[in-house]
Amino acid sequence: MCIPGPDVMELQAKKGQSPANTWNPLPSDDVLFGNSAAMVEVRKKALRICRTNVPVYLAGEGGTGKEAMARWIHHNSHYARGEFVKVNCAAIPGALLESELFGFEPGAFTGANFRKPGRVEHAEQGTLFLDGIADLDLSLQSKLLHFLQDGTFSRIGDHAERKIDLRLLCASDKDLEEETLAGRFRQDLFYRVHVFRLTLPPLRQRREDIPSMAEFFCRHFQTQFGVKAEPFSPDALSYLQNLPWPGNIRELSNVVARYVLMGPESMLYPDDVPGKNKRKLIIDQNGTHVTLKRMAKDAIKEVERNVILEALRANQWNRRKTAQELRISYRTLIYKIQDAGLGSRRTAVAGAHGQVGVSIENKRNGA
Ligand SMILES: Nc1ncnc2c1ncn2[C@@H]1O[C@H](COP(=O)(O)OP(=O)(O)O)[C@@H](O)[C@H]1O
Ligand SMILES: [Mg+2]
Repeated sequence: MCIPGPDVMELQAKKGQSPANTWNPLPSDDVLFGNSAAMVEVRKKALRICRTNVPVYLAGEGGTGKEAMARWIHHNSHYARGEFVKVNCAAIPGALLESELFGFEPGAFTGANFRKPGRVEHAEQGTLFLDGIADLDLSLQSKLLHFLQDGTFSRIGDHAERKIDLRLLCASDKDLEEETLAGRFRQDLFYRVHVFRLTLPPLRQRREDIPSMAEFFCRHFQTQFGVKAEPFSPDALSYLQNLPWPGNIRELSNVVARYVLMGPESMLYPDDVPGKNKRKLIIDQNGTHVTLKRMAKDAIKEVERNVILEALRANQWNRRKTAQELRISYRTLIYKIQDAGLGSRRTAVAGAHGQVGVSIENKRNGA
């Protein structure tokens, strides 16, 4: 038997709730996509798939904008008339997640003394965004697979089959292919959710987009906090452009929020610099205070050195490849390597111990 899905808005009105997922304001397309080559590609692909109903898998490191992109796809699709329903699979434990996704009937399990429609029902004619899908446990993976095969499911404790029409978008910070190969993710489900893959590049691969994004966040937070901030100086923008950004756009947004509230000096403390190292950034080797301008210059140099070192390591110290990846000329790279004292693999390792500030690896290890 097939029961049509309930009217979600009616259900919510009855319970006096606001819609399951209220809209986050999305930045304009110009800000969202930027102008970097990597994002021009993403934009082309996104435009091609948004009007279809194919499931899209959004790949990319944490904070690269997967959820923002999912919202953009929803907003620009035929499913925009329905809700955008996000379910964070990584944050909800297995048993609870099943009842959250598919709902339950009274008496389905101990404590179930009322009826609860699942999130899939809330997404009728809309978009279901399964974030952190790689963390879905295996039993739930098979129930999801069944649902994706024919659009039908049953609430827990209910024999009736319900049919729902929705658009599925999934994302994960993990490598889903690797999870599938390791047997932690069903291969048949992998093919279902992975019909089309859109990969969001890390911020360090789209550095040219950083100034416009920083300015967008600056306007946004001034409005949100009701304060006025100084416009970014060219030095500040270049400083931001050269940070490694392991936390990607989320980290940039946090840094700019601090800038708006606390001023330019706050930007010298990126999220991942542990407390004891912060002091090194504002006191030089002789223990005397240095000017803000000087600190910014030193910090930019230090960040640049770390970025180059990381790229050199990633490319097995192949300088031509490294220059290409960093989008600078080979000659510029050689100059910068000499300037930063990174002559060879060996001197780079030795040099890292005597540096003011912290190397990327030290920061990541919390050293
Ligand atoms: N292209 C973008 N332009 C401006 N802000 C963005 C963009 N992409 C993401 N954001 C913002 O950055 C933060 C992290 O984005 P999010 O989509 O949650 O990343 P992810 O899902 O990959 O972890 C959010 O606050 C989001 O609003
Ligand atoms: Mg996310």
